[in-house]
Amino acid sequence: MSEIWRPFPTGDTPDADGRAHDSEPTRVVLDMDTGVDDAVALVMAMHSAEIVVEAITSVAGNAPVDECTRNNLLLSELIRDHDAPPVARGAASPLSRPLVIAPEVHGGDGLGGVTRSLPDPHHPATDEPAHEVIARVSRAALASDLDAGALPVHRRPMLIATGPLTNLALALERDSHALDGYARIVIMGGAFDVPGNTGPVAEFNFYVDPEAAAVLMASGLPITLVPLDATTTTILPAAMLVAHAEGAPPARPGRSLGCILYRALDYYIAFQEWESGLPGGYMHDPLAVAAVIRPEIVETEKVSVDVLTDGADRGRSIARAAESGRTIRVVRSADKVRFLSMLEDRVLIPAFISREYAGRCTKHDHPG
Ligand code: BDR
Ligand code: CA
Repeated sequence: MSEIWRPFPTGDTPDADGRAHDSEPTRVVLDMDTGVDDAVALVMAMHSAEIVVEAITSVAGNAPVDECTRNNLLLSELIRDHDAPPVARGAASPLSRPLVIAPEVHGGDGLGGVTRSLPDPHHPATDEPAHEVIARVSRAALASDLDAGALPVHRRPMLIATGPLTNLALALERDSHALDGYARIVIMGGAFDVPGNTGPVAEFNFYVDPEAAAVLMASGLPITLVPLDATTTTILPAAMLVAHAEGAPPARPGRSLGCILYRALDYYIAFQEWESGLPGGYMHDPLAVAAVIRPEIVETEKVSVDVLTDGADRGRSIARAAESGRTIRVVRSADKVRFLSMLEDRVLIPAFISREYAGRCTKHDHPG
């Protein structure tokens, strides 16, 4: 049965958007294998007043983990140099398999090769590894205050995972309650009634670390899954990107957020045009962030999800009737028009038009 997803159960005083009445921003941890669409998701999250990014953790997936960590540092510093959230390095490979990366889709550095010539980020990653950061934020929510103990659910943080689920599974491996403090865990992954994008049946994040995906899907945690079925309907048209990027006033070429995004998205869209004739780029990961900010733009269905791990079925996700104790909310559809308007307001306009980031950057410019 389809329903509008509200992140907080009724009774926790959500308003029409499913957010708490007190309008305090929701604290989120972003766990990302930062390729191009993860980067757009990161920018959307950091440009949204409804949420506060408490930490960004990296995981190997689209690119090796060191590249993803560097991308998280570069992007978050360009958005907020002085109070950028901490960035933690995560797992360098899946739980029990060699890493598979996607340079043809995202470039060898995860961002279409754009970052190769950029100076290093100003700050290092934290010493604390990603899985510990993820668990620490959760624990803090359960023992937030000396008298009151756990935070009420509508004040608890949320975890948004847009890469292979290795860091989350590592946290659970060390402590099966490690993620209990999150009000909701929103995961981009899986494919149900559409073909996979990594072989015929599997979605990339589940394909790369199917064992980790299986652990999460069986965990009984409050998970919302944003699969390819929904994310292949949210497409950034190439023409919209060009209109925003080429319309930006000339200033600060090179190491600007707009320049990096334009060239990275151009690479990403060129691959999708070549592969399938799509005149745009799939916004897989930004839909996961948008669904946290504006829950009413997605419709979900409660099911249980199995993840197959072997042979030709590696990474395949199967939905079946919801089983008590392991119910997942799977996003079945998204309001494309509202999503694109969020993308314009929170990513394209701030990246290409605001004075802060303005910078004409043609595809041939070399950032540096
Ligand atoms: C997912 O795989 C990656 O290529 C994207 O960043 C997204 O998280 C889509 O299958
Ligand atoms: Ca991703």
